[in-house]
Amino acid sequence: MRSPVIVPALLSMVITISVACQAQKRATAVKSDALLQTIATNFEDGAKQYKVLKASLPPGRFPKTYYPQTGKSETSGSGWWCSGFYPGTLLYLYEETRDTALYNEADRILGILQKEQYNTTTHDLGFMMFCSFGNANRIKPKEEYKAILLNSAKSLCTRFNERTGCIRSWDSKDPSDFLVIIDNMMNLELLFETTKATGDSSYYKIAVTHANTTLKNHFRPDNSSYHVLNYDVNTGAVKQKKTAQGAADASAWARGQAWGLYGYTVCYRYTKDASYLQQAQKIAKYILSHPNLPADKIPYWDFNAPEIPNALRDASAAAIMASAFIELSQYTKGAAAREYLQVATTLIKNLSGADYKAAAGTNGGFILQHGVGHKPAGTEVDVPLTYGDYYFIEACKRYKELSK
Ligand code: GLY
Repeated sequence: MRSPVIVPALLSMVITISVACQAQKRATAVKSDALLQTIATNFEDGAKQYKVLKASLPPGRFPKTYYPQTGKSETSGSGWWCSGFYPGTLLYLYEETRDTALYNEADRILGILQKEQYNTTTHDLGFMMFCSFGNANRIKPKEEYKAILLNSAKSLCTRFNERTGCIRSWDSKDPSDFLVIIDNMMNLELLFETTKATGDSSYYKIAVTHANTTLKNHFRPDNSSYHVLNYDVNTGAVKQKKTAQGAADASAWARGQAWGLYGYTVCYRYTKDASYLQQAQKIAKYILSHPNLPADKIPYWDFNAPEIPNALRDASAAAIMASAFIELSQYTKGAAAREYLQVATTLIKNLSGADYKAAAGTNGGFILQHGVGHKPAGTEVDVPLTYGDYYFIEACKRYKELSK
């Protein structure tokens, strides 16, 4: 049984700000005992849920989602863009619980995932290989992991094009198309880390070029982002600005805004380039001042979803935002830093409540409910998603880390 979580409103609001003398990243500290207790429960419950998830997994398959109405689980092969989140979440939960069954399961599935290091047909190698092998190598560094990460970065770089200044996201039938989605910002961490690990600056340069091109072209004057840009591969000019997973070409797809927020925060972490920090802060402002952001801060699946206020919420976007806001708060001073931390606190608290966190043994073993994968295609709508779980547990870890 899950322990009841009691979060007195006042206590959960208590955030102590310490102006750090020594490190900008420690500029804002946080402590809410009630939320820390909730987070500790989340780790214990998450570990139990992931054992349920593991038990239902066919050999060689990765969790994808679960349909509560039918009780059916859906799985994927290692080539699906989400294959790294299951081992990544297991490793995060192992770090928090020291339960070796979680580590062993991560180790097993990494063995199946490793062949994707040579996959040059996707831009998702950061998600797939860094959330998995990056964490594995951080916890127990191994030459084998380092080689896999290096090969993955090399595979990702095969998709970089000098003329467009971007890494190609999706392939297209038209040979002049060059499709780039905002999500791609999340794959850059793998490249920054590869330069750190090898001393070879070519990975860093590709990451920075992609981030600069995206900054220039992907954002609207209000700092929301388009989902998909189509560049002309022959000239580098932008041919189309459109959506795939959002409500409309001109709408602000919630997870896309979350990817941009997280992605530019990571770019600032590695480069200390103020333009990336400013971009992350501008995205934060767009999200936090949006009239369609609900009071509990869990975004609708699209900020311009026509069904608002009856539109579905996207718990995955909320989880990504929570984790990103915690990191961004550490690079920001004053009221804005406090606001980012406060919002992250609210998001973690609300995602930890019964509306979003699944009861023990339910939800196919996933931790969070109510994610929206691809609404226009009608796939993975109002279901658990592996990346929702991954970034939720990451946000909980980051909050706990700040309070130390
Ligand atoms: N394309 C990744 C996502 O659905 O966010």
